[in-house]
Amino acid sequence: MNRRDFVQRSSVLAAGALILPNSLFSFSSNTKSKVRLGFIATGFRGQTHIAEMLKRNDIEIKAIADPDKVMLGKAQQLIEKSTGHKVDEYGNGDYDYRNLLSRNDIDAVFVSSPWEWHLKHGTESMKAGKIVAMEVCGAMDLEDCFEYVRVYEETKVPIMMMENVCYRRDVMAILNMVKSGMFGELIHGQGGYEHDLRGVLFNDGKSAYNSGVEFGEKGFSEAKWRTNHYLNRNGEIYPTHGIGPLSSVFDLNRGNRMVRLQSMSSKARGLNKYVTEHEKGGVNHPNSQIKFKQGDVVTTQIQCANGETLLLTHDTSLQRPYNLGFRVQGTEGIWQDFGWGGATQGHIYFEKRMEHSHRWDNTEEWLKKYDHPLWAKNAAAAENSGHGGMDYFVDNAFIECIKRDIEFPLDVYDLASWYAITPLSEKSIENNGQPQEIPDFTNGAWKKRKPVFGISSDF
Ligand SMILES: NC(=O)c1ccc[n+]([C@@H]2O[C@H](COP(=O)([O-])OP(=O)(O)OC[C@H]3O[C@@H](n4cnc5c(N)ncnc54)[C@H](O)[C@@H]3O)[C@@H](O)[C@H]2O)c1
Repeated sequence: MNRRDFVQRSSVLAAGALILPNSLFSFSSNTKSKVRLGFIATGFRGQTHIAEMLKRNDIEIKAIADPDKVMLGKAQQLIEKSTGHKVDEYGNGDYDYRNLLSRNDIDAVFVSSPWEWHLKHGTESMKAGKIVAMEVCGAMDLEDCFEYVRVYEETKVPIMMMENVCYRRDVMAILNMVKSGMFGELIHGQGGYEHDLRGVLFNDGKSAYNSGVEFGEKGFSEAKWRTNHYLNRNGEIYPTHGIGPLSSVFDLNRGNRMVRLQSMSSKARGLNKYVTEHEKGGVNHPNSQIKFKQGDVVTTQIQCANGETLLLTHDTSLQRPYNLGFRVQGTEGIWQDFGWGGATQGHIYFEKRMEHSHRWDNTEEWLKKYDHPLWAKNAAAAENSGHGGMDYFVDNAFIECIKRDIEFPLDVYDLASWYAITPLSEKSIENNGQPQEIPDFTNGAWKKRKPVFGISSDF
């Protein structure tokens, strides 16, 4: 069923939806050349998406919503500087985004809100007929994951998981090599979020990054909300930067799937030490004594239906250089990265090609030779985009799929299964590492669904 067929069917379904949509799939490539956009949450990440969209001539920004007047103002400035005019804004409290959603001149929305808002923002947008670009995180509760799938299956309004690391250049070259059979049969993968976030989790309430030791109501940007998750939860709380890229390599939800996981957590020391040693903190600062629940290093083992194992690491509270810790290992080869995706920041080994040398090769030559066609074709367009160009690709895929009326490469089933890692890991840790079954959100369809990520050189 294509989107136009669906319009008729969904008007019946929509009668029972939370918000009555004015239009469903109002974007049609037959009648429109521009995708009309709204932005829910215009903090730092929302502004990155706005900046990315403003480079294009096939979109139109219609409205923005954020209860924080400072963030709303920064977003307006970006838009006005580029287009010469302001757009409608919805800044009247936490629920003013609903007024943005009730407009009938918006085709799609970007959601870049704090994690605790993702479910409401995502599902209400779908129910209002707005195609969703959903920023990354993990679910607050396992039931949320079923809800995303339920709402999608009822409305058929698509939602894309905006996991930019899937588009990292080295990761895509490795995917290219895996698909060409160079790694043989896949056996094991690793990834995670290994990034010192201490200077993000605390600030002075006015500026981000290392400016102080406050969080919650006294914090600014992510310190305002993200740190509370470290206070109250203990688990793999940011799984998608690791599992996203592994998903396309290991064909998760498309011929393979995650069946169970098991997590363990270390003790928590990093955040207290940071506050204690910060010039604006000290042993007498109340935040140095707070008991954070989130362990400094949380590891999660995942078993896949086709027999592979995956290992995710969440490591954001200690001093350390950035590294997502990717590893892809098969019967014919192994790759490990140790940086932020630079061509020389990896080790690779192919026993037969390297004549049993037992020595790592630097990745540079390999990554160049097997550069993914998407990158080879679009590297110049991505040059000035965020996160080394990855942001260009993920945002471009969102718009191009809408324009071409084709399915997103990272869809609601990816979203649900990746987000599910968080509550399941929390439960596993609470139960001394007890294994947790990972639901099959595709209801058996994973056996027949074909890989779609990275198969075009256009998006
Ligand atoms: N993919 C990436 O590389 C990447 C990088 C940074 C952040 N993120 C993700 O982006 C999201 C936002 O992070 P951020 O760094 O922009 O945080 P931020 O704190 O800078 O921005 C969040 C914004 O959401 C707004 N908000 C809160 N409640 C809202 C509501 N009810 N309606 C509308 N807006 C609301 C806040 O006022 C704030 O402006 C998170 O999911 C984060 O994990 C992803």
